[in-house]
Amino acid sequence: MRLAILGGGGFRVPLVYGALLGDRAEGRVTEVVLHDLDADRLHAVTRVLAEQARSAAPGAAPAVRATTDLDEALRGADFVFSAIRVGGLQGRADDERVALAEGVLGQETVGAGGVAYGLRTVPVAVGIARRVARLAPGAWVINFTNPAGLVTEAMSRHLGDRVIGICDSPVGLGRRIARVLGADPGRVWIDYAGLNHLGWVRALRVDGRDELPRLLADPVLLGSFEEGRLFGADWLRALGAIPNEYLHYYYFNRETVHAYQRAERTRGAFLRDQQAGFYEEMRDPNTPALEAWQRTRAEREATYMAENRETAGAGEREADDLSGGYEKVALALMRAIARDERTTLILNVRNRGTLSALDAEAVVEVPCLVDANGAHPVAADPLPGHATGLVCAVKAVEREVLAAAESGSRARAVTAFALHPLVDSVNVARRLVEGYTRVHPGLAYLA
Ligand code: G6P
Ligand code: MN
Repeated sequence: MRLAILGGGGFRVPLVYGALLGDRAEGRVTEVVLHDLDADRLHAVTRVLAEQARSAAPGAAPAVRATTDLDEALRGADFVFSAIRVGGLQGRADDERVALAEGVLGQETVGAGGVAYGLRTVPVAVGIARRVARLAPGAWVINFTNPAGLVTEAMSRHLGDRVIGICDSPVGLGRRIARVLGADPGRVWIDYAGLNHLGWVRALRVDGRDELPRLLADPVLLGSFEEGRLFGADWLRALGAIPNEYLHYYYFNRETVHAYQRAERTRGAFLRDQQAGFYEEMRDPNTPALEAWQRTRAEREATYMAENRETAGAGEREADDLSGGYEKVALALMRAIARDERTTLILNVRNRGTLSALDAEAVVEVPCLVDANGAHPVAADPLPGHATGLVCAVKAVEREVLAAAESGSRARAVTAFALHPLVDSVNVARRLVEGYTRVHPGLAYLA
């Protein structure tokens, strides 16, 4: 079984490889091909994986090969993980900075920052989807690339249901709620629906009984987990649901924008500097690779918690939740497909009638039954009006991004920003397009 990882020089790749090392079952991945445009980063990560492999039982570690040739990476792949970051972390920092300078939210995936990131990423993701359709038509593509819902939808236009988008936030939220309710996270049914980074837990069923009302009625329980503290008991009761942490940027937009404007540097700028340090260290062939990676990661997570406590951002997380998600969701998905091991996962897939307010092609984030035939969204209750409103507004923005990327139309790009609920003036949208096209070479296609 061969897995190609696009963005193979990325800092999180050792997490994926670590998850693969823990898989001893029949039909597991035996070969990993890393692809990246940057040969130095590829080399650095390959060294980390080689050290990780040394700790595994002899013959148990998947073989690793690295290439800067996309076609070579794709040929013969059974699964493709797409985990690219167009424009790198400098691009993310610019996405954040330009928006904040205009007084609107500058964040990796939400608001103006997310629109800019989408505009840069969609053309590249579509290029990859086309190559996969051609060179590995039987492969399953698991999309990690953000903004994950939008990028998955762009790729689905070329790959149909063979591309599935993933995120760690819904499963993390479900796990935290289950934990405070004293329920076994493996046995609960989490009724979650929306778009990526824009969804709500509406019920949490244990043996068919909804335990969410018990949580909403209990201020102590509500104060004992991240989203409970982030949104506050009153607002959660008003909603009658627990929103994804990213909805904090909508419900408390003004406070978040102010906090981010006051912060010394954005999350993207912090990660850019920190990761540059790691890759720089790795230029020395004598650097112990795994140790350098682990140290950088520990530092990154410590700062994540500290920074977010100050800036009222995505909230603090319990240490065991930190970045402990993506690779587990991806592995569970891959296993279910490869071995026809039926399971339920919250994934980004084409709607196919699940949320009645959206068309069949719209990619949504909902619970899915997964087996060898792929991911099948489970019928969901309609969203309440306020949630339908947000989901439809943001999907309309995503569609404008897709249209801009396809046509190269600058006017469509302006419309994408202007229609976003977190952009408060058409004039701001115009200036955002100017500002972003000035700093991002990846937006040169907008005429
Ligand atoms: C969560 C989200 C991801 C996002 C990440 C950012 O895991 O689900 O989509 O990319 O947070 O984390 P970072 O450490 O890069 O700020
Ligand atoms: Mn995510």
